[in-house]
Amino acid sequence: MSTVLQHPREREAFPKKPVYRFPPGFKRNLLWFALRKFRPANPIFLFQHLAETYGDIAHYKLGHHHIVFLNHPDYIREVLVVQNDNFIKERTVQRTKMLLGEGMITSEGSIHRAQRIAAQPAFHRQRIAEYAAVMVEEAVRMRDSWRVGEQRDIAIDMMHLTLNVVARTLFATDLREEVYELAAAINRIMGLYNFLVMLPLAEWLVHIRPPGLAAFVRARNRIDAVVYRMIDAHLQRGRDRGSLLDMMLAAAPANDPELRRSLRDQVITIFLAGYETVANALSWTWYLLSQNETCEQRFHAELDCVLRGGVSSAEDLSRLRYTENVMAESLRLYPPAWAMGRYARNDFALGDYFLPARTTVLISQFVTHRDPRFFPDPLRFDPDRFSAEEKARRRKFTYFPFGAGARQCIGESFAWMEGVLILATLAQKWKLQLVPGHRVEPQPLITLRPKYGMLMEIQER
Ligand code: HEM
Repeated sequence: MSTVLQHPREREAFPKKPVYRFPPGFKRNLLWFALRKFRPANPIFLFQHLAETYGDIAHYKLGHHHIVFLNHPDYIREVLVVQNDNFIKERTVQRTKMLLGEGMITSEGSIHRAQRIAAQPAFHRQRIAEYAAVMVEEAVRMRDSWRVGEQRDIAIDMMHLTLNVVARTLFATDLREEVYELAAAINRIMGLYNFLVMLPLAEWLVHIRPPGLAAFVRARNRIDAVVYRMIDAHLQRGRDRGSLLDMMLAAAPANDPELRRSLRDQVITIFLAGYETVANALSWTWYLLSQNETCEQRFHAELDCVLRGGVSSAEDLSRLRYTENVMAESLRLYPPAWAMGRYARNDFALGDYFLPARTTVLISQFVTHRDPRFFPDPLRFDPDRFSAEEKARRRKFTYFPFGAGARQCIGESFAWMEGVLILATLAQKWKLQLVPGHRVEPQPLITLRPKYGMLMEIQER
């Protein structure tokens, strides 16, 4: 057999095409399956189907685009931690940018790094402990405003409560007057979110404002107005009060003509990430407690024993272990961040598979947290799964409500503290009972919300 020697430059001109090895999955394009089998509006059904049918890793295509869905801790670790340099958020957060702009959740590379470093001191453990008093104060205000026997949409109450907490702790702003307007505008956008995600070319159409998108723009303008008022108040005051907004200001380049716009993106990002997620976590927790009487009794017993009728504080946290486990179990069953996406910059290997650059990788906390291999009898609400022994036994990357790796949630400690203190403060006095007949269904939007709200009756303990 004769060998033809190639000049190196010739070899470069005709690079060898890589041989990809794709995981099992849909043979046809997703659209075909979406129209036949799934309600396209609920991607969780699709993810569950992929995990049940194809196992740890599944492949499908949307047009020419490759997508893999992962449901195994080794793959999840590989993407979020080991090969994280190759996986960016770009494209997977394209539509979210219509609301958030270039904040910490959507930004990439050096911009992301600078934003994260600037905000870090506000999330330092010691700093967060200082926020505890405000968290409890807001919770006490809500606790004392409730009346026995009234029926309330707890999802809305939790949104108002957590919005106030973020505004006061991180932005030194009292939003009491504007909180209803702000929450209503964000709700309006969430209601339109699925429509926006499905709408081709939404980023461009938004300038023409067809019906639906006009409502989005109106709601976004309302949110912007509140956020710009906050920014302008900080700029006028000129005095550094050590708030997160002051830190963002200090880190901004001098004479930046886009300063207000850039601050707006960063502030909205923290607002949305910091209040929506915790509010949803709390709504799901009240619901789960109302459905599990024994757990609710243990939770109440812990509060009585630790707090002894007093006001809760940061010092109590280490003893409110069962309360923390209740929240952890609620985050397992109803993770507010129910899925994450990444986009591969270069070709990459995952286990036995070799996949091309520009593949989208999807991971779902909702699906992995409910996998019986990692959580036996997964639909049972059992806070004891989070006892120290059980936690030590569990495989890493099977439970990741706050993500993992370089993009792990910056607000995790904040969220634990806020969640536990609010649960403890409200449940010291009240027991929440789901109103009979009220429909409860998770709706996967940017966060996992209760689709019909959470109508509950306030009962005395
Ligand atoms: C129960 C409450 C919360 C949950 C479940 C949650 C979940 C998450 C998850 C999963 C991520 C990573 C997303 C990804 O890698 O694609 C994330 C990122 C983030 N979270 Fe949270 N979060 C919560 C509370 C908070 C709070 C209270 C704040 C701020 C006050 C916050 C601010 C952020 C920010 C800024 C990021 C982006 C971090 C980065 O990319 O560097 N979150 N969160």
